[in-house]
Amino acid sequence: MIKEYFKSQFNCEPTAIAKAPGRLEFIGNHVDYNQGIVMGVAIENHITVAVSMRDDDEIHMASEGLRCTGKVKLSEVVLQEKKQKFMNYPLGVFAMLREAGMKVEKGFNLADTSTVPTGAGVSSSAAIELATAYALCKLYNFPLSKIDTVRIGKAAENKFVGMPCGILDQGVSGFGEKDAIVRIDCKTEEFSTLPLPAGTYFWVFNSGVKHALVAGDYAKRHASCMEAKDVLGKYNPEITCLADATVSTVEANKSKLSAETFNRALHVVGENRRVVEMEHALAVGDLAAVGDLMKASHMSSRFLFENSCKEIDFLVTELSAQKNVYGARLSGGGFGGIAIALTNGDFSEAQAKEVAEKFHEKFGAYPKYFRTTTGAGAGVVE
Ligand code: GLA
Repeated sequence: MIKEYFKSQFNCEPTAIAKAPGRLEFIGNHVDYNQGIVMGVAIENHITVAVSMRDDDEIHMASEGLRCTGKVKLSEVVLQEKKQKFMNYPLGVFAMLREAGMKVEKGFNLADTSTVPTGAGVSSSAAIELATAYALCKLYNFPLSKIDTVRIGKAAENKFVGMPCGILDQGVSGFGEKDAIVRIDCKTEEFSTLPLPAGTYFWVFNSGVKHALVAGDYAKRHASCMEAKDVLGKYNPEITCLADATVSTVEANKSKLSAETFNRALHVVGENRRVVEMEHALAVGDLAAVGDLMKASHMSSRFLFENSCKEIDFLVTELSAQKNVYGARLSGGGFGGIAIALTNGDFSEAQAKEVAEKFHEKFGAYPKYFRTTTGAGAGVVE
C-alpha cells in the first residue's frame, strides 16, 4: 500500500520505509514530564513512512490519511500553517535530526499511510515522528540508537511543535513490544518491559471530544506542576522534580500551595505511587488490584487533575460496571480523547455495543470503539 501510494505521489520508488505504532497510556497520567514512572503499550495500529532523495533543495510531503500534500525548501524549515500544518511533525523531526548533526545536501520526498486514528488520544503524532525519524536516518545514513530516536521525536514536539510533553508517547512507540507493557523511568530514561497478563485485552473507546493538546489545557497543567515543584523544592531541597515528592510531602506543604496547585500535585504524586503499586499487582498477577488501580487513576484525573470530561467519565463508569472488565480509565493527555478498559477474553462485542448505545442515548453520538492487541515498536521496514 505505502509503495503504491508513494509512487502515485512522487512517480518514483521509495528508498527507505519505516513504521511506528500508536500507543495507549496504561497508567501514570501526566507523570512523564514530572520525571516519575509511567507505563504504556504500543498498539497494532501504526503509521508507515516512505522516503526518497530529491535532486533539488525541497521537501515534498503527502499524507494519504489526511489527504494533504505540501512542500517547503530546506532553507525554510519552520512551523507551517493552514493547509501545510500536517507537515509539522515530520518537519520537526527533520529539523531536530539536522540539529543533531545529520548532513543534508538534498531534499526528500515523504509519504505516509496510517491505521492510527488522528486526534483520538492514541498518539498518531508520536507514531509519525518515530516512523519519520527511522526513515530519514536510513535515507541520510545517520544511524541513531533507539533511545536517541525517541529523544528526537520528543524534541520535535517540545522545540518545534511547541507541545511540552514528556517521553511517554515517543518512548512507548519506540520501545513497544508485542504482549508487553513498556515501563519508563522518565528521570533516568530507563526502559523495560513487563509481560501483559495473558488473556487480557484493551478496548479503546473514543469519546469524539477532540483534545487539541497544543492549545491551552495541557500546557496549563504542565505549568501548575512546575509551580508545585518549585514551591516544594524551595522547602525540601531534595525535591528536584514533582515525582521526587510523596503524597505526604505534598500534604504537609498544603498551606504553601494554592488549592488548585495542591490538587494537581496530589494527582501526580498519587499516580506515581499507583504505577509502583501496579508493577507489584502485575508481578503477582492480581488482576483485581490492576483494575482498581486503573479506576483510582481515573478518579484522580477526574477530581484532582481535572483533565477528564463528562463523556469520558460516562464511558469509564459504564465500562467499569460491565462484567469481564478489570478496570477502565482516561488514557493520555485528557480533555477528551479516549477511555480504555482492560478486559478478559469474554468481554464481548455485544457488551461494547451496549456501552456505545448508552453513550448515544446520553450524548446523541456514537463513540467509535475497537479492541486492540499490543504491537511491535518502531523500526525500519526496508
Ligand atoms: C500526552 C503527552 C504525554 C503525557 C500524556 C499524559 O499524551 O504527549 O507526554 O504527558 O499526555 O500522561
